[in-house]
Order: sequence, then C-alpha cells, then structure tokens
Amino acid sequence: MEIIISESPQDAGSIVADAIQRLLTSATQPVLGLSTGSSPLPVYRHLIDRHERGLISFADARAFLLDEYVGLAPGHPEAYRSFIQREFTNHIDLSPEALFGPDGTSADLQGATEAYERLITDAGGIDLQLLGIGGDGHIGFNEPTSSLGSRTRIKTLTDTTRADNARFFDDDADAVPRHVLTQGIGTILASRHVMLIATGESKAAPIASAVEGPLTAMVPASALQLHPHTTIVLDEAAASQLTLDAYYREAYAHKPDWQHV
Ligand code: GLP
Repeated sequence: MEIIISESPQDAGSIVADAIQRLLTSATQPVLGLSTGSSPLPVYRHLIDRHERGLISFADARAFLLDEYVGLAPGHPEAYRSFIQREFTNHIDLSPEALFGPDGTSADLQGATEAYERLITDAGGIDLQLLGIGGDGHIGFNEPTSSLGSRTRIKTLTDTTRADNARFFDDDADAVPRHVLTQGIGTILASRHVMLIATGESKAAPIASAVEGPLTAMVPASALQLHPHTTIVLDEAAASQLTLDAYYREAYAHKPDWQHV
C-alpha cells in the first residue's frame, strides 16, 4: 500500500489524474473503474481540463461504474450513471456506449449483477479502479460485514450511509434508496491498480482504520491491504489520524523516479 499525503484536495486530484493520464497514453484499450461521491470530483476536473487542452483522449477507453442505486427511474439526476455523465463523461470524448454501470432498473437484479461481472471480465478486467471511502469505511456500497470475497450483488444500505447521502435527496434520508447494486470487494480487488482518494476531516478515522487497523470486514476498505497495487491519496485533514505519517511522507519524497504511482 502506498500512502500519499498532499496539501489539498486539488493536489490529491492531480496525483490521481497523473496516473490515469499515464494509463490513457500507454494502454491501447484502457479500462477505467469510476467512482461517484464528492471525493473524486477534483480528479474529474483535472481530467476534463487535460482533455480540453488536448493532452488526453478517452476515445479508446471503456469505463465501469462502481455502484448504482436500485429503483431510481432511468435518467434520475441522482442515479450514479447520471452523476458521472454530468460531472465527467459528458465533458470528455468517451463514447456513450463505452460507459457501463450495474442496471439498478432491471426486473432481474440478480441477473443484472451477474451480467455486469461478465462485462468486466469480457473487457479484460479493470486497469485502474478509482475509489472514495464512506464514513463507516465502506468502498463502493460494500457496507461493514460485506464479504471480503464478494462480487457484484445487491446490498442494503445502513442508516448511516442513507443519512450521509440524504444531502443529494433534499436532505430526506427516506428518499435515499434502501437497496443498491455494487461491485463486490472481490471485484474491486481483481482490478490491476486501485486508487482511493479521501479528503477532509470526516475521512480521517475511516482512513486510519483502513490503512493501519486490522484487516476486517467491519472496515471494508481494510481489504485493500490485500491488494498488491493500492495507492491511497489523501489531503492533510484525511491523513491527520495516521500514526506513521512521517514514514509515508519520507517514502513518497524519496520515491525512485522510475517507480510511477
Ligand atoms: C457513496 C459511494 C461511495 C463513496 C462514498 C463517499 O457511498 N457509493 O463510492 O466513496 O459515498 O462519498 P463522498 O466522497 O461524497 O464522501
């Protein structure tokens, strides 16, 4: 696990955007895993800017969403597909047919999750999976006690997560869907590179548990300790409860030039 502590959310976003830029310019058919929530927004803003400046193209890329609410009407503004189109993919040259997400409107949700796993496999797997982290340590919508080997499936949100996400539903937690489809922890661990971005004070405790605490299904993000190539990119506030922060800073400051993020 590599821990990078940057000065601001914008700097954290730039570090993640650098890794995505490197992937886009080196792979012939790059496969991205995209996350919603506010944490990755600085990443998307940097990527849109670099695209507008002609530095990167997504024309040959495919992108897979991490998760989706169940039961929101197609095109609902808070559906994660709508979110990612509004905040990111409408502003770049990714083909609309190259954006995939779990189908939370399907009459056969189990079939939809199995189909989604097959789509990812058929694409050759995910090269770089972008993640945020929930206040309770969840990744995607894998709530505490999720199986560390889980694949894409239906989950029930905790009341805490529904309350956290109520801000997107006119502050009405009851309007937040109870069910979601999410890539499993096993699905996330199968991607070749995981980058988790976390910023702000509210992420300090879950980050400390995930990075320095025990591997436990009670903190789903701690499963990333098992992944051979995970990069955790933080701002100062999100890093404020780490005990080995001096070591992480030293390691990053002396990172060999040839060893990219
Ligand atoms: C939701 C999403 C997660 C995201 C989390 C944190 O639960 N399913 O993918 O990481 O929110 O969101 P934010 O970055 O807005 O704090």
